[in-house]
Amino acid sequence: MSNEFKPLQGMSDIAYPDVLIWQEIEKISHKVFNNFGYTELRTPVMEKNDVFLHSLGDSSDIVQKEMYNLQDRGGRSLVLRPEGTAGAIRYLASLGEESLNTKVYYIGPMFRCERPQAGRKRQFHQIGVEAISKPNAYKDVECISLQYELLKQWGIDKSIIKINTLGSIEDQINIRKGLISSLEKYRNDLTPDYQEKLKNNVLRILDSKEEKYQNIINELPSILSFMSKESRIYLDTVIDLLDELNIPVQHNNRLVRGLDYYNHTVWEITHDSLGSQDSIAGGGRYTIQSGKKTMSGVGFAMGIERIILAKNTMKNINNYSKKNGYWVISQGNKSLIENMKLANEIRSLDIRCGMELENKSMKSQFRKADRFRASYVIIRGDEELSKGIVIIKNLDNSEQKEYNFNEWKKTL
Ligand code: HAM
Repeated sequence: MSNEFKPLQGMSDIAYPDVLIWQEIEKISHKVFNNFGYTELRTPVMEKNDVFLHSLGDSSDIVQKEMYNLQDRGGRSLVLRPEGTAGAIRYLASLGEESLNTKVYYIGPMFRCERPQAGRKRQFHQIGVEAISKPNAYKDVECISLQYELLKQWGIDKSIIKINTLGSIEDQINIRKGLISSLEKYRNDLTPDYQEKLKNNVLRILDSKEEKYQNIINELPSILSFMSKESRIYLDTVIDLLDELNIPVQHNNRLVRGLDYYNHTVWEITHDSLGSQDSIAGGGRYTIQSGKKTMSGVGFAMGIERIILAKNTMKNINNYSKKNGYWVISQGNKSLIENMKLANEIRSLDIRCGMELENKSMKSQFRKADRFRASYVIIRGDEELSKGIVIIKNLDNSEQKEYNFNEWKKTL
């Protein structure tokens, strides 16, 4: 595509036929969420800076370098949402008592100013849920089982669910202290940005993909060793319950998350086919301060672009654009207006129907019928109109038959 027509770097137009896969994924999601008792929430894509600043964590990569910050004409600091949890929690906090046990889902665009690469976009789309609840292993498990059901219904197999616990808020103080003291002897081996992490966000060191730090990370004690017994039992309960539901998970005691609001259960779902950006979903239990309210909940978000990559759906595009409906071919002005009436009648029966509104050759109209992915073509030119007949062609087997128009219409 020539530069003049390209969208911004890291952003994409989603058009036919790819958009059919998006519609299919969204359709399945609405159904599954409804079955689990979640209702849809649509929050604005732009929020006040504060909504994200404190909840995601001042030292998180998103806040430090990935947020799209804007200023409106009144000089207010605004942000294009980098994720859906903070906005959803802002809304849920406004409900007061009613928010308890409320379960919402969202589908929509998110924005992060990252270096674009395969599977990493600046505008991407998430399907996510948030369920307000105090720590409760059953609720975490229901959330993961909902996600598992979505993957199943989307037809994604071979994904891996990795799970861990970050402990309670009180445990996190001990974890931080424990890790900092264990890392002290390596301080001089750390680059300045890792020394910064050591000070501000030591958990993120466990997440490092850099080869040179792997030995150090492997030497560190598991964060479970700095946690209370209750928190370890909480994780064991979650894993046992998932096992009861036949949901396979891998416990990975190095798993941490890129956002600061998490405590207790955290998880990530990866898929081998995705290369370096292999995470299709992330989730966990969290505590977020929204205004004066402290909100606890559990949720997840899945990247739609990565779900589509994992499905490798370009191969299956025809499954998403199954032939259906009619394409009407006219020849001459009289048949054109009569066929417009016919097409409207067909559409009023909730049947898909398309037609050419210019005088075009039969060949070109058949090409359009194919692109429209119609099941049948209705041929009614001025000549057929004057004879009161219609020719119907089945585009699957190419069979063509002539009918009395009024008789045929009754069969619609
Ligand atoms: P997250 O791990 O930052 O979590 O993002 C969730 C998913 O969004 C990722 O696993 C990935 O599939 C997708 N994603 C993230 N960044 C990009 C990108 N630049 N390009 C394409 N896809 C991307 C959250 O956002 C949390 N709010 C999840 C959550 C909800 N936790 C609790 N509730």
